[in-house]
Amino acid sequence: MKKTIAITRGDGCGPEVVNEAVNILKIVSDFTEFDFEFIEAPAGGEVWKKYGTNLPEQSFETIKKSDALLFGAIGLPDLKPGIAESAILKIRQGLDLYVNLRPIKLYQVLREICPLKDEFIGDGIDITFVRENTEGLYKNIGKLEENSAENLMLYTREGCERIIKFAFEFAKRKGHNKVTSVDKANILKPSQLWRSIFHEMSKSYSKIEIEDIYIDAFCQWLIRAPFKFQTVVTGNMFGDIISDEAAFLIGSLGMASSGNIHPGKVSMYEPIHGSAPDIAGKGIANPIGTILSVKLMMEESFNSLEIGNEIDHAVEAALQEGRTVDIRSNSLKTLSTIEMGDLIASKLKRRLKA
Ligand code: NAI
Ligand code: MG
Repeated sequence: MKKTIAITRGDGCGPEVVNEAVNILKIVSDFTEFDFEFIEAPAGGEVWKKYGTNLPEQSFETIKKSDALLFGAIGLPDLKPGIAESAILKIRQGLDLYVNLRPIKLYQVLREICPLKDEFIGDGIDITFVRENTEGLYKNIGKLEENSAENLMLYTREGCERIIKFAFEFAKRKGHNKVTSVDKANILKPSQLWRSIFHEMSKSYSKIEIEDIYIDAFCQWLIRAPFKFQTVVTGNMFGDIISDEAAFLIGSLGMASSGNIHPGKVSMYEPIHGSAPDIAGKGIANPIGTILSVKLMMEESFNSLEIGNEIDHAVEAALQEGRTVDIRSNSLKTLSTIEMGDLIASKLKRRLKA
């Protein structure tokens, strides 16, 4: 199965972690029926400095023609905020990537570095956030004047329906028996529309239990009883914030993966962290968030749960032998970005050969 994968390495630690994820894709290509071709699609701050645009036309054309995009991270400390980063919004809006899928799973072997006390971890943490990715405040409709500023929080029925449907279908596919919706329906009108649509649509999924939680209360439930949640569906801004909070529960921001998805169309997979200027160039960034984004790509864009599973097992096996500094363990060897990537790659190779 021939597939073309666009690669945006980006800034800071982006190229370092993307390298390791590309190695994983190469192993999949070598040892399975998939045959991947890689095409570079530069974007971000370094590109802006060279060409005066953070997303050259040619890069976007390459992305549009590919089967999926693997994206590192962008942003440079010597550029004004947004100069590099707005390329991400251009891609999300330009490709209408309305689903932001963010799985948060605590590997058993990392339980000891989870910041929560054992009683709060309970049976374990395995939550998938389904965040609306194209509407609401982040659509950035508004104005900034000297004495006031505004942004429009616009949600449409169509926008709510498609993301909520995705969440129910995802839960069904994963065998989840509950979908939690997070909103602020006691204050915000868009949340009231959202909640009514959530209830309406739940009627088509009679085997799945539903639950509504206000965003403020959810923030405490997330650290008080994260084991309660399976699929969590929410709007754009709420999803942005709570999924970063959740990412720390699995040990490090460097562990968390994401997909920006339009089912059936070219979608973008990236770690949730940024370009990490404080550690860039030191060869110590954790590549696992990016490698798990490849797992998501295999599952969501290329329909291969099996390979996704193999990548998951390879990561777990590697974590038993070595760690990057952000998830360091006193009893295990501390590894560089490349060493961690190589260890996972060798585990995966062995599994796919078998
Ligand atoms: P960040 O996610 O880059 O870093 C936050 C903290 O997490 C830092 O201490 C960093 O060292 C650590 N960290 C991040 N990735 C790591 C990894 N793979 N392994 C180990 N530790 C890791 O967030 P920050 O510092 O707020 O932003 C830096 C730049 O990245 C900014 O320009 C920001 O706008 C941009 N950014 C880009 C994103 C993207 O490309 N999707 C997402 C978030 C931020
Ligand atoms: Mg964020």
